[in-house]
Amino acid sequence: MNPTDIFPVNSNHLGNHSKPTIYVKELSEKDRHRILRHFLALEESDRLLRFGTYLPDAMVEKYVEGLDFSRDKVFGVMSHHFRLVGVGHLAFAPRSEKDEATNKDTVAEFGVSVSKTARGKGVGAKLFERGAIHCRNADVDTLYMHCLSSNQTMIHIAKKAGMEIHREYGEADAYLKLLPADAVSVLREAVQEQVAAIDYTIKANARAAVKWIRHLPGLKEK
Ligand SMILES: CC(C)(COP(=O)(O)OP(=O)(O)OC[C@H]1O[C@@H](n2cnc3c(N)ncnc32)[C@H](O)[C@@H]1OP(=O)(O)O)[C@@H](O)C(=O)NCCC(=O)NCCS
Repeated sequence: MNPTDIFPVNSNHLGNHSKPTIYVKELSEKDRHRILRHFLALEESDRLLRFGTYLPDAMVEKYVEGLDFSRDKVFGVMSHHFRLVGVGHLAFAPRSEKDEATNKDTVAEFGVSVSKTARGKGVGAKLFERGAIHCRNADVDTLYMHCLSSNQTMIHIAKKAGMEIHREYGEADAYLKLLPADAVSVLREAVQEQVAAIDYTIKANARAAVKWIRHLPGLKEK
């Protein structure tokens, strides 16, 4: 597959390529089947990195069935062809009594995965950034992430975002302290979501049109 099929790269008037724009959108019930397809397409080793254990297909299905869109936030990045290529799951939980990193009642944990064909283009970092800004705006000041200490890519993203990393027995727990919400963070998230929603609708309509044309009599593939 041509990498520009994932995100078309913009060229400026000098013919130079700039970085593709990545839109992160909040996903909902109607995306559940896309989320499942995204996870099922992850290789065994990536499922291990994402979930901390190797999850067989049946367990992945259970995990996706159990996603509660009213309690947690699930963010996604769509490819040019309306395929879900990145998923970030922000799960909220009550703070444990042992937790000394915060005195808020709620903490958040973030998990992320990006399809192989879309890696190295900033999708993982954008999803992480969106998760962090959402926490700020939801009055959560501590964002946790759990990953294997061999996961250098994720550790790089987390460190770049300013996360403190604690390593223990091959596991790395990272947490990021977040600033309180302000007008800029609230506006930034709202604008990001609106732009991403427009991008999502355009891609969904284009995909539906392509499907419709393919089903026109006489155009069916033999
Ligand atoms: C981790 C993952 C989400 C990253 O997604 P991605 O879209 O490729 O990430 P990005 O493109 O935003 O960023 C990758 C960064 O890591 C860096 N990187 C890549 N390989 C690296 C390595 N071996 N060591 C250190 N840094 C590395 C890149 O240079 C880039 O940094 P930069 O932006 O400063 O140049 C993706 O690899 C994935 O889905 N892995 C499987 C699941 C997983 O590990 N999830 C995390 C645990 S919840």
